[in-house]
Amino acid sequence: MPTSTWNRHHVLSLADFTTAEYDTVLQTAASFQEVLSRRTKKVPSLQGQVVANLFFEPSTRTRSSFELAAKRLSADTLNFAAATSSMTKGETILDTAKTYLAMGTDIMVIRHREAGVPQAIAQEMDRLGVRVSVLNAGDGQHEHPSQALLDLFTICTLIDPNHPHLELLKGKKIAIVGDILHSRVARSNIWSLTASGAQVHLAAPPTLLPKLFAEYVCEEKAESRQLFLHWQLEPALQDADFVMTLRLQKERMTAHLLPSLREYHQLFGITRTKLQLCKSNVKVLHPGPVNRGVEISSDLMDDPEFSLIQSQVTSGIAIRMALLYLLGSGKVSGI
Ligand code: NCD
Repeated sequence: MPTSTWNRHHVLSLADFTTAEYDTVLQTAASFQEVLSRRTKKVPSLQGQVVANLFFEPSTRTRSSFELAAKRLSADTLNFAAATSSMTKGETILDTAKTYLAMGTDIMVIRHREAGVPQAIAQEMDRLGVRVSVLNAGDGQHEHPSQALLDLFTICTLIDPNHPHLELLKGKKIAIVGDILHSRVARSNIWSLTASGAQVHLAAPPTLLPKLFAEYVCEEKAESRQLFLHWQLEPALQDADFVMTLRLQKERMTAHLLPSLREYHQLFGITRTKLQLCKSNVKVLHPGPVNRGVEISSDLMDDPEFSLIQSQVTSGIAIRMALLYLLGSGKVSGI
């Protein structure tokens, strides 16, 4: 496993990921993808370690994917769901995390609806001087690193299944369409895709893509990254190699930002007809869960010629195995 370029103790954001780190994650995931194709899909890498999935917000695929990834690495897993936990009795997030620490947790996978919670827990673990790693599984509108890494892996393995690496995306045109304002998936993908040298075109109605979004997300690096904003779909789709569509995050919308879902679908929903503007071999991604017939037409979603949605879910396990392995392998010590 290529671990030499890995010194990271937590994975909280992709903002400062280096090319070497992306390539390490991609190559490690490729090795695990091979493991997952075997009859016995399990390796002993994290035997004896405890991975706690602390999900303070609902999730289907991310939580199951982290759980399966940890089990494939032979770790012991603890699953926490806020609704059935002592948080309903008033326990704080930090006290919950410390309870899992006291049980010998090595890696905490954390999802929370507020931005910054995984970071706060990581800081507390560092302050306590314990060797617990924190992995951000989605915090508010901030970041969702493992989702962007699995998106990257899905695209790179399509181009070169044997040697997925960041440079494969150089010069590719990638459109990200939909509720960008509320999307942590978009924010993490902007870091990884622009780091690869791809041209990233964001398209959404102005209410879901504020004019200052690029500066706001990338700060001083915006100019050096190939990031373009559009308030119409067509220029983003023109000659695109990949189209990433995002769910309308109704639970995060505090105001009426759209006239109607029908109008949104007409203007920004991805359909076969609209894909004709793209390269002929264009592929479509969506992190899920999907509002069928809103951000993407139902038939397109199920069409294996265009849709990478199922491969994204499959890639998620290998990517999360890679992240857990890279964070956890430093903790294994002899008896
Ligand atoms: C995303 C999330 O939770 O941020 N989904 C996911 O993790 N697969 C996107 C979304 O909820 O729309």
